Amino acid sequence: ARLSVRDALGAQNTKGERVKVQGWIRSVRSQKEVLFLHINDGSSLESLQVVADSSFDSRELAFGSSVEVQGQLVKSPSKKQDVELKAEKIEVVGNCDAKDCGFVHIHTPIITSNDCEGAGELFQVEPSSKIKVPEKNFFSVPAFLTVSGQLHLEVMSGAFTQVFTFGPTFRAENSQSRRHLAEFYMVEAEISFVESLQDLMQVMEGLFKTATMTVLSNCPEDVELCHKFIAPGQKDRLEHMLKNNFLIISYTEAIEILKQASQNFTFTPEWGVDLHTEHEKYLVKHCGNIPVFVINYPLALKPFYMRDNEDGPQHTVAAVDLLVPGVGELFGGSLREERYHFLEPRLARSGLTEAYQWYLDLRRFGSVPHGGFGMGFERYLQCILGIDNIKDVIPFPRFTHSCIL
Ligand code: 4AD
Ligand code: MG
Repeated sequence: ARLSVRDALGAQNTKGERVKVQGWIRSVRSQKEVLFLHINDGSSLESLQVVADSSFDSRELAFGSSVEVQGQLVKSPSKKQDVELKAEKIEVVGNCDAKDCGFVHIHTPIITSNDCEGAGELFQVEPSSKIKVPEKNFFSVPAFLTVSGQLHLEVMSGAFTQVFTFGPTFRAENSQSRRHLAEFYMVEAEISFVESLQDLMQVMEGLFKTATMTVLSNCPEDVELCHKFIAPGQKDRLEHMLKNNFLIISYTEAIEILKQASQNFTFTPEWGVDLHTEHEKYLVKHCGNIPVFVINYPLALKPFYMRDNEDGPQHTVAAVDLLVPGVGELFGGSLREERYHFLEPRLARSGLTEAYQWYLDLRRFGSVPHGGFGMGFERYLQCILGIDNIKDVIPFPRFTHSCIL
């Protein structure tokens, strides 16, 4: 008989009836001898546990794939549900290769002459003084360790439409915080023909959720160990994040919310001033510990490349940050200013026109609406594992006064 997930879960006195259940995979957990799947078809808030032996190929059974499972409905030894489905046959109806999505992997350079974020937090690269360089300096122009691969990705998105990079980035930030490193890894994506922040946020939320589901299904023991000893209750907090649609508020709304609670803060929230970590953490709590996108920041706070919203005296840009529980900002992104006559004066105001001719050329020849984002990888680990200090997620953290080992 064909059963809905709801009917399967409600089955009484199961005596190993043969049934067929169809639905989408909500999670996959593989252990040595068995594979646990949770599937749902929208008929129930709860998912049905499917137990399969190791002869089934877990690579085929990815999060989000639609499947048809035939097997026996049996009493479950787990306390969480009464019944489970012992799989005899699992057919993938439509697979879900969501992590690829047609993005081309680009290796962006580590040494660069640009300061993408325009914040001047650069480590300069020069040959050691023992080396004799014929010219005045090695590269003829000042060179730095990259703060972001974005500008190079923008070039490549003009050839491949959707591109990503994953590599080390460096910031000479003089801050001793629980979420800043001088050397960290970033996942960055850039997408051509994106015209709204909505489209970009969908990709960001999709990346967070699929990456997390993949981590949970590929290394459940490691995650459980962290959750058990370092962050009790983190599993539920994480499930809460995965289950809910992320929220969206504007920067202006965020400031309004913060002003109502200004007695809680060391730094007074004010329109036109950047959000502090304490503000970001408050906003996430205010949103019920569901990740929240904050969009449309004041132009004056953001780098030259963000797209002008042309919205009158307040004057914002199409920026988006994703704030998550325990960490605050995890992603930073934006629509890019693809219009030459908007970009050129902004570069000129910062005295960058000459150095960024090549970047302006991207707007001169075949310009296209586009956007992208970066996700700090160590902050991502902090968020899913529930680790309070970023220095605890990597073996050799680099920060001010710390580069011995
Ligand atoms: O918000 P940020 O500065 O954005 C960019 O660099 C864009 N160019 C990315 C893009 O659009 N392609 O940095 C992105 C993310 C932050 O949200 C944060 O998670 C992480 O990188 N990050 C840091 N992580 C650890 N230590 C630091 N010092 C970090 N600075 C940024
Ligand atoms: Mg940022």
